Formats: sequence, C-alpha cells, structure tokens
Amino acid sequence: MTPAAPAIRPGLLADAYRMARLDAASSPWPWSEAQYLRCCTPVADNRERALLLETDNELQGLVVFARELDDGSIYNIVVASSARRRGYGVLLLEAAIEALVTTGARRCLLEVRKSNTGARRLYASCGFHVDGTRRNYYPLPPGREDAILMSLDL
Ligand SMILES: CC(C)(COP(=O)(O)OP(=O)(O)OC[C@H]1O[C@@H](n2cnc3c(N)ncnc32)[C@H](O)[C@@H]1OP(=O)(O)O)[C@@H](O)C(=O)NCCC(=O)NCCS
Repeated sequence: MTPAAPAIRPGLLADAYRMARLDAASSPWPWSEAQYLRCCTPVADNRERALLLETDNELQGLVVFARELDDGSIYNIVVASSARRRGYGVLLLEAAIEALVTTGARRCLLEVRKSNTGARRLYASCGFHVDGTRRNYYPLPPGREDAILMSLDL
C-alpha cells in the first residue's frame, strides 16, 4: 500500500504530550513535555516554534526552531524510528527554513553531536556547512561529546 502523503502544520499546545512521547521513543536525547509546551505556546513574542509532520493524522516527526536577531536556529528535529529515510527529515527542515526566511532571517544555525552522523548528513544534504566545533559541549554517560556547529546562508 502507498504510504499516506505527509502534511506539515504548526504544533499546538494540545500536541505537546504526543511530541514528547514521539521524542522519547525516537531519540536518545529527548526533550520534555514542558519544553514542547513552551514552543507551542501561542503568544506573539514566542521566539520558539514547532512544526509537525503527520500522515493520516499520525505524528511522524517534528522540528523546533527559533528566530534570534538576524539568525534562525534549528533547536531539535526528530522523525519516528519507523518513518525514517523517507525524506521526512528534509521536508521538516525545509519547512522550518522557509518559515525563518519569511521572518527575514539571513542565516540558519544549528549544533549537532559529533557522533550523530545521520543528522549531520541530513543537514549537509540540505546545504548546511560546518563552521567549527564546540569542545565537550554535550553530556554523555559517561563524559562529554563535542558539538559540530553548522550554518546555512538563507
Ligand atoms: C536525523 C533524523 C531527523 C533524520 O530523519 P529522516 O526522516 O530519516 O531523514 P531523511 O529521510 O529526510 O534523510 C535525508 C538524508 O539525510 C541523510 N541521512 C538521514 N539519516 C541518515 C542516517 N541514519 N545515516 C546516514 N545518512 C542519513 C541521508 O543522506 C538521507 O538521504 P537518503 O535517505 O536519500 O540517503 C532522524 O534520524 C532522527 O529523528 N534521529 C534522532 C533524533 C536526532 O538525532 N535529531 C537530530 C538532533 S541534532
């Protein structure tokens, strides 16, 4: 059977629990429901925003991003383990970038764990390049891990 077409829409407060559940089931570094509530709070000055990707109303992925002065940042992107390598990550990233361009952002920034080769390849496939490394930025059980800093001119 052909998979249902993906649809992308803004995250709402009522989605926060499902977003946290998807993240907990899909990522080794999940955000909490409180973090998702924050990016779905509908106030005019909320810098953080979330977009959800669904098929047949089933949540398959999400991206959280923010505008910071002239720059935009990708804070998190997650696709359900069962829905990977179907291009949903690219669709979410492109939708976030389009939203940032609409707000006038000139550059999109992000940080990614050095060991996260899948995400690094996703970002590179969307045109992001490596700007540098932040040493020992992320906690690891045990120890610390470098962050790779990436950016895309919009
Ligand atoms: C990273 C993530 C969002 C990618 O989602 P996805 O929907 O599978 O990505 P896409 O299908 O759009 O992949 C696009 C391209 O990225 C690259 N890519 C994505 N995942 C990859 C992997 N595990 N290994 C190697 N390359 C990968 C490939 O070039 C891929 O194109 P291809 O499938 O034609 O080869 C997903 O693996 C995920 O949710 N990981 C856990 C959370 C996470 O690490 N988030 C990033 C935080 S910085």
